[in-house]
Amino acid sequence: MKGRGGSILALGLGFGILCSTQTAQGAEMGSFVYNDFKKPTYCGGCHKAIFQEWKQSLMAQSFTHEWDEAEYFKLALPHSQKLEKVAGVKAGCIGCHSPLAFLSGDIPPKDVAAGTRANEGVSCEVCHHITGSTEAEPFNFSFTIEPGKTMQGPRSDAKSPVHGVEFSEFTGSSELCATCHDEQSPYGAWVKSTYREWKAGPYAKEGTRCQDCHMYDAAGKAAKNKSAKPREDVAHHVFHGSHFASKLAGAIDLALYTGKTSVSAGDNVGLRAELFNGKAGHYVPSGSTEERMLWLEMRGIDSAGKTFNIPVEPKGFSGEEYTIADSKALAYQAMGEIMEVKDWKGLSRDGIVPDGSRIFRRPFFDPEGRMTICQWYTAENTGIDYRIGPREMKIEKYRWVVPTDAAAGPMTIEAQLFYSQVPSSVGEYMGLPATEYASIKVNEATLTINIK
Ligand code: HEC
Ligand code: HEC
Ligand code: HEC
Ligand code: HEC
Ligand code: HEC
Repeated sequence: MKGRGGSILALGLGFGILCSTQTAQGAEMGSFVYNDFKKPTYCGGCHKAIFQEWKQSLMAQSFTHEWDEAEYFKLALPHSQKLEKVAGVKAGCIGCHSPLAFLSGDIPPKDVAAGTRANEGVSCEVCHHITGSTEAEPFNFSFTIEPGKTMQGPRSDAKSPVHGVEFSEFTGSSELCATCHDEQSPYGAWVKSTYREWKAGPYAKEGTRCQDCHMYDAAGKAAKNKSAKPREDVAHHVFHGSHFASKLAGAIDLALYTGKTSVSAGDNVGLRAELFNGKAGHYVPSGSTEERMLWLEMRGIDSAGKTFNIPVEPKGFSGEEYTIADSKALAYQAMGEIMEVKDWKGLSRDGIVPDGSRIFRRPFFDPEGRMTICQWYTAENTGIDYRIGPREMKIEKYRWVVPTDAAAGPMTIEAQLFYSQVPSSVGEYMGLPATEYASIKVNEATLTINIK
């Protein structure tokens, strides 16, 4: 915490016992009650636009949306009751996904249908009462929080008829976001590192914060009241990330090249795809990397409309097999064990991604060395990281022998870049709505070659 002292009410117990970490300390479980915090609808009475923006964002749904609910109640919670090493995640998940439930000691919270205040997720008063962190580089909800009538905010000249405001450097810093966006598993693996990726990259050095890309500023008023000043830079609470196709669209530039534009069936065609992360302040994918995939599908479509899949040329790095789609590969065995499914061999590792496509991902491995989507049960994830860093370019090559059954005439080579939040195999198995594991188009590029 910068430039303030003595006012931390909620310094916590050792979190080694409570949650998924060895070191972080911060807000204490059960140190408050729900009624110490106001509901977002109350704030929305005056901060209308901000309320609507927040309400649509994933942070308003961090406890209620289907995959979060399913992963906590069907996987993490039962696992925490079976395996001592991960016992802390019973409360630990909630520390970030429903801070009010955690702070009120409502652990485990009731399910979403019960309609308790756990459903409010990361609400207005969570962020606007956070005063700092116990860590210089925060993680695992290591925030300190002071509920009450004073809002921590970005300005010192704001006047509200119903609450105090206090300028807080911390509110305007990427460290606020880091308190929940970086996570260490009970095994010590960094399983979320969006802040650390940002910090090590070019944007931190240039002073571009998380807020600058996820809460853009625009002229207007922060509240509908008369006392609200017209300002040039009101912070919008959009928080769009990978759940919004508009944020993903074009997030990675894609270009496609070939040396030969006129070939015969049986000839070798070399293709080169260039992918550039010019828009995200961290790796793509980031965040829940245990289950996120970005992948490049390459195909040729001949003049008769026949489609040929074009596999990527392997580069030969260690662990590369996890980055090339293989419909025969199985993974996620721990899921079945936790749910006690008989004769469970695992699920398709890559879901619907076509064989031979390059996958930009960072696989996580459980203590038995099997690939997992259970980030709390992750022992190791340092070895293989084939994601695209901030302002990094990756080049993928293809050496394709034009099939003898390709029709003469123009052949379209089509490169399509997709993103998915959860492998489709996992989404289907868990009965999630299809939107939770859909393939979202990030970019595409085409070129035409002539088949003689
Ligand atoms: C009765 C109307 C009203 C209600 C209810 C209200 N606010 Fe405000 N709030 C205002 C006004 C007016 C301002 C000043 C805006 C300005 O001048 O830019 C303000 C300013 C703020 C600021 C900016 C502080 C800063 O440093 O810039 C924050 C943060 C804030 N409110 C959060 C909240 C939260 C969270 C709630 C719900 C607990 C809430 N407000 C409820 C009217 C209200
Ligand atoms: C995830 C954390 C987070 C949540 C949740 C959140 N805010 Fe904010 N809010 C911020 C940050 C960070 C800023 C300052 C942005 C900046 O520095 O560019 C801010 C700024 C504000 C401001 C001042 C805007 C300005 O530019 O003067 C108001 C008012 C406000 N928030 C109200 C709310 C209300 C009302 C809600 C709930 C509907 C809410 N906030 C939810 C983090 C949050
Ligand atoms: C109290 C914990 C907490 C804090 C503080 C916090 N976040 Fe989050 N954030 C979450 C959780 C939990 C999710 C996951 C929601 C989900 O997918 O269910 C999330 C999701 C997101 C997403 C993903 C949205 C999407 O479409 O996929 C973005 C972007 C984001 N937060 C930005 C921010 C920024 C920027 C800040 C700092 C100003 C911040 N968050 C501070 C807990 C937090
Ligand atoms: C230069 C702009 C920029 C900055 C700075 C930035 N982001 Fe992002 N962020 C993006 C873009 C673009 C995306 C969409 C691509 C994606 O989902 O990976 C994104 C996506 C995300 C996601 C979803 C990731 C996923 O793959 O599920 C989260 C969470 C997030 N950002 C949080 C943060 C946090 C926290 C910070 C600060 C530590 C931050 N961002 C800084 C531009 C930015
Ligand atoms: C340190 C804070 C933190 C902890 C602890 C935490 N999460 Fe999260 N969780 C997040 C953030 C932040 C995101 C959003 C990242 C992104 O957008 O990629 C997220 C994303 C998720 C998602 C993906 C949502 C989606 O729509 O794809 C699920 C599911 C989830 N968390 C479940 C859990 C479970 C279960 C636990 C406990 C084992 C847990 N989380 C512990 C912060 C946390």
